[in-house]
Order: sequence, then C-alpha cells, then structure tokens
Amino acid sequence: MRIYRKEGDEVQLIAFPDEQVHKADYFLIEDPSVSRGLLVQVIDLQYANVPGVLEDILRDVMTDGELDGKDVDPLNISSEVDALKDTRLAVCKVRGTIDQDGSLTSSTSWLPSRTTSRIRPYQVTRLITNGGHRPVKVGHADGEPVQIDATGLDGGLNIITGRKGSGKSHLAKLLLLSMAGWGAPCIVLDVNGEYVNLHKSKDGRQSNSRLTVLAVRSGLNFATAKLGLRTIAGVLSHALDLPATSSKVFTTIWRQLESRGEVSLPNLISTVQTWSCHESVRDALASRLQVLLETGLFTDETNPLTEEKILHTIENGGVLVVNLKNQNQTVRRILVEIFLGELTKILSSNWLRAAFLFAEEAHLYLRDTYWDDIVTRMRHIGLFTTFITNQPDTVQEAIYRQADNIFIFNFTNEHDIEAIGKVAKADSETIRYLVRGIPTRRCLLLGNVVHDLPMMVDVEPLDVRTMGETRLFFN
Ligand SMILES: Nc1ncnc2c1ncn2[C@@H]1O[C@H](COP(=O)(O)OP(=O)(O)O)[C@@H](O)[C@H]1O
Ligand SMILES: [Mg+2]
Repeated sequence: MRIYRKEGDEVQLIAFPDEQVHKADYFLIEDPSVSRGLLVQVIDLQYANVPGVLEDILRDVMTDGELDGKDVDPLNISSEVDALKDTRLAVCKVRGTIDQDGSLTSSTSWLPSRTTSRIRPYQVTRLITNGGHRPVKVGHADGEPVQIDATGLDGGLNIITGRKGSGKSHLAKLLLLSMAGWGAPCIVLDVNGEYVNLHKSKDGRQSNSRLTVLAVRSGLNFATAKLGLRTIAGVLSHALDLPATSSKVFTTIWRQLESRGEVSLPNLISTVQTWSCHESVRDALASRLQVLLETGLFTDETNPLTEEKILHTIENGGVLVVNLKNQNQTVRRILVEIFLGELTKILSSNWLRAAFLFAEEAHLYLRDTYWDDIVTRMRHIGLFTTFITNQPDTVQEAIYRQADNIFIFNFTNEHDIEAIGKVAKADSETIRYLVRGIPTRRCLLLGNVVHDLPMMVDVEPLDVRTMGETRLFFN
C-alpha cells in the first residue's frame, strides 16, 4: 500500500490488487524516521482513478470477441493495465498516533513520509481490551474476539439502534446478562415480552442468572399510600394528563386523608366525589382515579410491590423484567412513571449505588420531558440507561450528543442514517459510510467501550431463550 494524499483528518491510501482491504479495517502508517505511526481506519473503498483506464475498459468491451488472432504484447503492458484497473483507493479517517511504546494519543498533527512509511494492518482489539478488569465478550471482528470492559458501560447513557430484526434486542440481552453477571442491578422495560426467559438456556436448563419477571396481575401491584404523593401526583399529571388546577386539589385531598392514615385509591375516589370544588376539577380527578383503579395495578394493597422488594430483587446482579407486553399506552406510561419514581427513591436514599435501566422502544411510553430527565437528573443519582430503538429520529439530537456509547446496526433508510450521523461520538462520514449495507447481527461500536475507536463487531450468539423471533406463517 502507498499513501496517496492527506487532507484534514482524511488519508487516501492506494491498495494494489493483491492487498486485502475491507471497510472498517485499521491500518498503521509507520514512519521509521520519527518512530511513530498514524492510525487510520478505512471508511470507504473506491477504484483508483487512473487516467486512461476508462478508455481501456471501453476498448476491451468493444473488441471483445470481434477480433480474431493473437494479442501481441511484447512489453507485457496489458497485465499492468489490468492491475491498474483493479487498484483501489482506500479512503481513511485518522484516529490518532501510536507512539513507540504502543500507546495511542489523539495527536494527528504530523505527516508520515510518503516514500519511507510502511503501511500494515493493525488490530485495534488490543487497544480496546487493554487493562480491562471486567471483560464482556460481545463478539468478533475479523475472527478476533472482541471484549469490552463493563466499566465502559458504567455511569453513562447507551443507545442501541438499527432497523427491525437487525439484532438490537439480542445485543441488549447480551449486555444485560453480562452486567448482571458482574453484579450490576438491572431493570428492563420489556415491551414485547421477550426478556422473560433469559434465565433458561435453549435446551431448557436454568442458568445462574437471577431473573424476576413482573407483569400486570402477576406481581405488579402497588399500595397507593406507600408510593407516596409525589409518585401518584406524577402519574396523574404525566401519564394521565391531569391539569394543574386539579392537581392542586388532589394534593389537598391527599394530605387530608394522609393525616388520618386513610390513603387508598377507593378512599381517594370517594373523597373526590364529595369534595366541594368546581365540577370540572372534580370530574377530571374522578375520571383519572377511575382509570388508575381499572388498570389492576392497585388491587391488593395488602401485599404490594415496595421499593424494598424492588431493591431486594435487583441488588447484587439481579434482573427485574417489567413485562409491558399487551398493555396499552396508558398502562405503560403509568408503570414507567411508577418505576422511575421508585428507582429515584431507592437511589437517592443510597440503598443502591447505581442501577442499569434497559428501555426497549422507549418512544412508545416515555414522555418527552423524561428523555432529558433520564440523561441529566437520573444519571446524577445513578440510573444509567440503555435505549433500544428502531426509530432513531424519535430520540432527540441532544440525547445522541450526550450518549457515551452507541451501537448501530443495519439501516437501509437514508433518513435514519442521517439522524444518527449527528452523533457527537464520531464524525458523520464514518457513520454514513460504515453503516450503509452492513449485514444483520453486525454492528458499529462507538464511544467509551471502544475508546472512541469505531469498530465493527459480529455480535456473539447467546445460549438463552431470547424469544425475539418474529412470528411467521411460512417457516
Ligand atoms: N448475534 C446473534 N446471534 C444469533 N442470533 C441472533 C443474533 N442477533 C440476533 N439474533 C436473532 O435474530 C432475531 C432478531 O434479533 P433481535 O435482536 O430480536 O432484532 P431486533 O431487536 O433488532 O428487532 C432473533 O431471533 C435473535 O435471536
Ligand atoms: Mg427488538
């Protein structure tokens, strides 16, 4: 290979037909005179534009099979021209400088020599796993195993995106089980009911992960008084759109019942019905409380799910799956509001140092203001979220900019690629060129876990019942 040109952070290399180059490969351009190397990554492969090649190709086609006789080529030029036709231009992005001791720095302000530099393939997996104390095997890159460090997923916001069926939930399950394996408390908001069997291997054996699945009328059961005014008021105004004026009246009613130790959903309803206030306020309140009653989430207040129980199920590597399958939008929003409220209580009273929340298709149930809340306030108290979505444009741009890790699977839609291209963790060209046309189950890793060296990984299979299969008629 040879250096052809460098412009800004882009380097173009010439690759001859016998040289192996693939998109996303890393190469080190070593300059012996300064004993360091420029680390570059191929983002696109093109044909080298050699003058005269077009003419030669056209001539080939036109004369094909029409002329009889033998080619006379005493100087053996045709094989050279053929080689030129297959010479490729590898468009690369500069990722940093590898110093003599093998360490990576972000310095890119020098130019390697065009004549004396040696260019060789470089395995970045070495740089990534270096010093990892809690390895998580995510898959392979070019046959080399790729391990990331679980600490790279800690303290941050992760986004897994890609089109339907590309392997997002699979990766989420892998990360979830690995994090739990390292003792991290995990909660999953499971819209499709596909995380409920993660503790069973494919042949039905139990694995040693501690999984608790809760669903409506199957463990998801709360005591109004125990949840507290703040959470219930939050549910009413955010999940059920209760107007602010009614919200004030609700607070007064709650306080009155609380002073008598009589807070419960039926009591709240009967008090509202006889409360002297404007009729519209009363109706607004009564109808919302009725909705709460009908969700079946408050049916047995004697044995409720409390924050102590939630804490107990997730501490030391427990996984709590909140099965939202077959629930309507309202119930989902109520549950998310309640769980975020309970987790806030658990984390702000320091019962747990941190918890990891995996939210599938969060745009289906998360209200707009929660996105900000989750990445700012919740993050400060120790709730670290992984969003999994096939609609990247439903995640606001600001959220992408805050993300610490992004895992991008296949996208075919230009609009979607454009939306993710705005990610601050990598330049948009890298994302656009690398993501286009990647096969399913392969993803582009960006961010802390790969030390900001974009990397293409074939995600590891899992020996658990992932249940993500789309139901089909023709098998
Ligand atoms: N790396 C992988 N190895 C083996 N099977 C996989 C892998 N990734 C995905 N699958 C399978 O492919 C199907 C679709 O994957 P899934 O993660 O549910 O897609 P998505 O969530 O992106 O719609 C599932 O049956 C899943 O088990
Ligand atoms: Mg999925």
